[in-house]
Amino acid sequence: ATTIPISAEKAQPDREQPSKLDECRRCELWQFATQAVPGEGTKRAPIMIVGEQPGDQEDLAGKPFVGPAGKLLDQVFAQAEVDRKAIYLTNAVKHFKWEPRGKRRLHKTPAQREVEACHYWLEKELATVKPKVIVAMGATALKSVMRKGTVALKDFVGKPVRVDGAWVVTIYHPSYVLRVPDEASKHEAFSVMVKGLKLAHELIE
Ligand code: URA
Repeated sequence: ATTIPISAEKAQPDREQPSKLDECRRCELWQFATQAVPGEGTKRAPIMIVGEQPGDQEDLAGKPFVGPAGKLLDQVFAQAEVDRKAIYLTNAVKHFKWEPRGKRRLHKTPAQREVEACHYWLEKELATVKPKVIVAMGATALKSVMRKGTVALKDFVGKPVRVDGAWVVTIYHPSYVLRVPDEASKHEAFSVMVKGLKLAHELIE
């Protein structure tokens, strides 16, 4: 008789650790989102870029950074000469968290428990991609990557640190750049992002 090998996962189903991202019930956010948004890009990319969570358009499209923040990020990529297809792009939290405002769905910052619950998926991505450099965009991504409840972004921007054998480079989140009201500060914030990505590129060499 032929023995069909079964994986440990199948032999011991673990409801806390769903195999499919879209079936994730590790926190409550799935109930209000259209779908989970997985990371995308090159599987063994040397650079992994981590955002916060999908926004309204990403939630509908099922792809990260396709809305306004993604458009700004594409400008940063162009300036830093980063090919979006050559990196891996993901989020700390994979479901869109929002609150209703009229007919619109307004982004809500994920709670620490949600970031922690979703770290399970980021760890899986890190184990697969094995990036040399992780670029954390904004405080939520940084908290997740550093596994800390609180972090001060200013302590990390421009100061790469080593975490579990990879460099962590911290830059602003593109939505922050979009929100900055005056042009001079916007320009400055944009160039901090460009500089961070150029640094990430140097660190993989
Ligand atoms: N903001 C994020 O952090 N991630 C996205 O995918 C879109 C907007």
